[in-house]
Amino acid sequence: MRKVSGRRELIRLYVGFFTDEKGHKECRNVPLVPENDPTVLFTTAGMHPLVPYLLGQKHPLGNRLVNVQKCIRTTDIDNVGDSTHLTFFEMLGNWSLGSYFKEEAIGSSFEFLTKVLEIPLERLSITCFAGDKDAPMDTEAARIWESLGIPKGRIVYLPKEDNWWGPAGKSGPCGPDTEMFYWVGPGPAPMVASAQDRGGWMEIWNDVFMQFNKSEDGVFTELAQKNVDTGMGVERTLATLEGKEVFETDAFLPIIAKVEELSGKKYGESESAKKAMRIICDHVKASVFMLAELVVPARIERGYVLRRLIRRAIRYGRELGISGRFAKEVAKSVFEVYPDYTHLSDNRDFILSELGAEEERFSEVIDQGIKYFERAKAEAVAGTIDGKTAFLLYQSFGFPIEMTEELAREAGIKVARDGYEREAARHQELSRTASAGVFKSGLADNSAETTRLHTATHLLHAALRKVLGPNVEQRGSNITPERLRFDFSWGEKMTPEQVAQVEGIVNENVAHALDVTREEMNPAQAKAAGAMGIFGEKYGERISIYTVHGPAGVASKEICSGPHVTNTRELGHFRIVKEEASSRGVRRIKAVLEK
Ligand code: SER
Repeated sequence: MRKVSGRRELIRLYVGFFTDEKGHKECRNVPLVPENDPTVLFTTAGMHPLVPYLLGQKHPLGNRLVNVQKCIRTTDIDNVGDSTHLTFFEMLGNWSLGSYFKEEAIGSSFEFLTKVLEIPLERLSITCFAGDKDAPMDTEAARIWESLGIPKGRIVYLPKEDNWWGPAGKSGPCGPDTEMFYWVGPGPAPMVASAQDRGGWMEIWNDVFMQFNKSEDGVFTELAQKNVDTGMGVERTLATLEGKEVFETDAFLPIIAKVEELSGKKYGESESAKKAMRIICDHVKASVFMLAELVVPARIERGYVLRRLIRRAIRYGRELGISGRFAKEVAKSVFEVYPDYTHLSDNRDFILSELGAEEERFSEVIDQGIKYFERAKAEAVAGTIDGKTAFLLYQSFGFPIEMTEELAREAGIKVARDGYEREAARHQELSRTASAGVFKSGLADNSAETTRLHTATHLLHAALRKVLGPNVEQRGSNITPERLRFDFSWGEKMTPEQVAQVEGIVNENVAHALDVTREEMNPAQAKAAGAMGIFGEKYGERISIYTVHGPAGVASKEICSGPHVTNTRELGHFRIVKEEASSRGVRRIKAVLEK
């Protein structure tokens, strides 16, 4: 087997294989904060920014793509601490946007695994989709694997729960997948007869055949364009090849070493030391990457996830016996691991000072909070901490509810989560709770409702600038099928007249049945064309511009990856339901479209 020296070499081998030998183009490793997708908090997979292209839009780099993508998954933060779960990780992927399909995808995967990584055939096993009412058994994939030399006995058919990927949201591209496993167990690899026999087999790669579109009412239809979406976890593959766990690869070693130094403990000395060190390393790493994109600790959404991560790391620092502040020191070792991500070093001072400030805030109250929790535990009725107490822990001591729940689990008691939610709602903490739904969804929601609201958002943006002036700039946008939410820079409450004027302008645009068109250009051309957007290195070489053509000139021109309607008559009646403060200097509008 090939000796791979670390994450950078694995990435170089993978991207090099697909660009040099398989005619792929390397696409951008996009930011963790999605650029044009308000329905998700973070980029969770390499295919994420490719959704419009999987659905048929032309990608500027062609139809064969490869990259490494930084990802954040927040669904199981509380499981981080075991030997496998991570919040931040890197994913290698190659894509066919209607170019090659099963034969070539599987052939390339096989070639990379056995020729480039030199994995012996006897250590590989495969799973394929077993078939159900929505799609047939994937005998084609199995046949291809067999033709390459994988014995029948090492190919297992499994149902949707195992061998189907997407849509992560309610609707969108999805399909059967075939997964590749590598034998890490003792002795020679056995044949596998069923899902139960998978003991020492570790999944390393997933080829998804995105040949279906799932509608919101759960119907699967064949996509005109047959795509391939593959994903290989960098940390996990490295660990597998080296016979180690992910925390012992070069994606973690310097960070673990720093925590060992700060705590005076050794990683392997006890299960509890291992758990605490894994949590600290993973959480601080993910925090550094979020802060590098200017996410700051906050009460809602991304900022809340960041706060949760930092505070959980601090709690485990105490468990490990680290006295004093440590997060910044640990963060410095994260910079060492990722010299290739220059946006980390570019924002070094900001990252360290924000991280330090959050640690300071929490360190001042955590001990008292723990004492308060101990008392609450002793007084818990029927083994349950009530909602009011959990909320007080949050409000007075900054304990995220998930932390209180984790402490409770460790003590073998429960927390009345519904009671907590009621209490939080009473204190107008609703927004955070509501945003929790976003954490789970993965894909952009391209339903008709959200598409209409996307276009309405552009019209609202343009109308606000007309009524309030060019100082209005977008600060945030979030769209659900029910409503749009738009944050913009403006220091004071809008008057009822201004609100009515903005509504009027949008509705006039709807009444005029204006055409909406899309063009591709580079950022300089977009800027010259007067398109709205945040100019900077965030955009790639080719970007989409959506223009709404008014009767007397352009009604709106904005950089956006869509989706949008083709004519504003599809929107219906636009109504602003709320105009309120969002934060200092930022106002928030919620609006709906009525039939
Ligand atoms: N989207 C699939 C995954 O995340 C393959 O890349 O596993």
